[in-house]
Amino acid sequence: MTSDVRQRIEELRREIRFHDYKYYVEASPVISDLEYDRLMQQLKKLEAEHPELVTPDSPTQRIGDQPVPGLTPVEHRLPMLSIDNTYRREELLEYRARVDRWLKGEPVEWAVEPKIDGAAISLTFENGVFTQAATRGNGRVGDDVTHTARTIMDLPLHLIGDEPPRVLEVRGEVYIRNSDLVEINQRQHERGEPPFANPRNLAAGTLRLLDPRIAAERRLRVFCHSHGYCEGLRATTHMEFLAEIRQLGLPTVPHVACFDQFEQALAYCDELIERLHEWDYEVDGLVLKVNRFDQRERLGSTSKSPRWLVAYKFTKYEAATRLLGIHVQVGKTGVVTPVAELEPVQLAGTIVRRASLHNADELERKDIRIGDIVVVEKAGKIIPHVVRVEKHLRTEPLKKFRFPTHCPVCGQALVRDPGGVYIRCVNRACPARLRERLKFFASREGMDIDGLGEKLIDLLLEHELVSGFADLYRLTVDQLETLPRMGVKSAENLVRSIAASKQRGLARVLNALSIPHVGAHTATILAEHFGSIERLMEADLEELESIPEIGPIIAESVYDFFQSDEGQETIRELQSVGVVMTQPRRKRKERPLEGKTVVVTGTLQGYSRKEIQELIHELGGHAASSVSRKTDFVVAGENAGSKLDKARQLGITVLDEQAFEAMIGDGS
Ligand code: IVH
Repeated sequence: MTSDVRQRIEELRREIRFHDYKYYVEASPVISDLEYDRLMQQLKKLEAEHPELVTPDSPTQRIGDQPVPGLTPVEHRLPMLSIDNTYRREELLEYRARVDRWLKGEPVEWAVEPKIDGAAISLTFENGVFTQAATRGNGRVGDDVTHTARTIMDLPLHLIGDEPPRVLEVRGEVYIRNSDLVEINQRQHERGEPPFANPRNLAAGTLRLLDPRIAAERRLRVFCHSHGYCEGLRATTHMEFLAEIRQLGLPTVPHVACFDQFEQALAYCDELIERLHEWDYEVDGLVLKVNRFDQRERLGSTSKSPRWLVAYKFTKYEAATRLLGIHVQVGKTGVVTPVAELEPVQLAGTIVRRASLHNADELERKDIRIGDIVVVEKAGKIIPHVVRVEKHLRTEPLKKFRFPTHCPVCGQALVRDPGGVYIRCVNRACPARLRERLKFFASREGMDIDGLGEKLIDLLLEHELVSGFADLYRLTVDQLETLPRMGVKSAENLVRSIAASKQRGLARVLNALSIPHVGAHTATILAEHFGSIERLMEADLEELESIPEIGPIIAESVYDFFQSDEGQETIRELQSVGVVMTQPRRKRKERPLEGKTVVVTGTLQGYSRKEIQELIHELGGHAASSVSRKTDFVVAGENAGSKLDKARQLGITVLDEQAFEAMIGDGS
């Protein structure tokens, strides 16, 4: 009995690992989220019934349920060194000349790859099982962060393949995608928490959290780029090493290429530099590495860094400039944020004139004063922000900045969120809030109304053509035509695109309404839970709070909005102009193999083994590797062997390739 369960548990784990790999590493999932959840549920249930069979490398063990009491120091078996770096091309050429000298003119192959701007990590696997993660620390001793590293989404807890090295210590960079950071910050905002400034610090900070449950929300990922202490590694070059660990299911640093000539490697550096902006992660340079391990060994290291590699760094996305003024901006939910007006400065290819100062507390803590020299950072998609002030450059006494007590637009007294960092104008009718709400409503994130941007919204407000969302849908070509620089054609186009936005569905509408603490993520949860605005408006606080991920602050904000006269009026108006406020159900694909366990054996004409397994998954089935009583049918190709015999013994239906295709309705 237990051995059956043990086998089933192993099978489920193998399958889940396979799907994790497809999803996170290859980014090409073969089953739906629903099916994945089902596999996970099955595994969780079996493990709950048989706790003695739970192992630390089980996919269920990614997120522990207990914080660790503190971080324990770990001594690295081999030191984690740093990389010698240069910002100048001439220095790169000098470095190459040194390598040539050290290797007495032997030919050298050069691997080039991005230098990922994340948090360095060492990951140890013993006999294929993930056993420990450690930060770099001082290079000799780091901190044990195994508990948070388990939440790294693309890190396998168990390597793929039958013959992993006995000990494999890979080193890599933990990072957070820029697009994920935008969403994480959106959620921070919804919760009334301040945003995170950059993905690198967030990744490093997250690894060092004591509570893995919080870490799991931060979507950590890893790129592996080198190795530490290993036993049984086969590779003899860097390129072989990356291929070997990729085979084992580890995500490797992208865009790697290897060249016979240093000049070619440099040309590739130029190519990569042109493409940096395409990537969804931060890169602070490129690394040039000697490919062959035997040459690396002969080159050795200094006390600080190996001689076999060099980093070609970019100037950081940071610049110092003078703070000319601070103005406060009223956002769509009334949050008043301080914005720095700067002496224009060149930064990451753009001229920066303004930067976020986050919030009043931050201003106070950093003691930023008008006239100061401040350092601005712009990373990825993040809006430029002031990182610090260079106080030592203050040459004269500057006045402390006093945060306004009243809304600069409507004059109402500002109110601080209870227990939060945000200060708001709570006047729902504040013209600044209306303008921001309309802007957001029309924006791509909101109702995605093509052609309705900031300038046009200002004109509409100025000409008193709109005072609420629904007014947009009542605009006519005649009215629009009276606006400056608006011809008939553009007026017609605008009316058409406004009308088209009526069909975006409930989740979009909920997000577009600018309800405090409700962003795109919460809006989707609400829309999927309730299905229609009517159902949502009927919900009481208790029901709202019972929805996963909806906490008391969000629940109260949603409830208040729909109970308020203004909220109800807004919805009535939007209904009267025909805005659709239901959530279309997702279409189910045709899934003829739903719930079926299929075993494939022998060689098929039309599919490789991998292809047919993927097809089975796509059609809802489960592709198992061995025949048992639970097998629904076996697909047998040429030279089918023992599995076919076993199927016959157990009386299980056997299909040939044609019969299988007929069954799935694909006779083509
Ligand atoms: S190779 C001697 N490859 O940069 C260390 N490191 O500044 C050899 N890093 O701590 C590591 N991207 O964590 C290597 N493609 C890459 C890298 C990379 C980022 C980090 C690494 C190291 C730091 C040194």
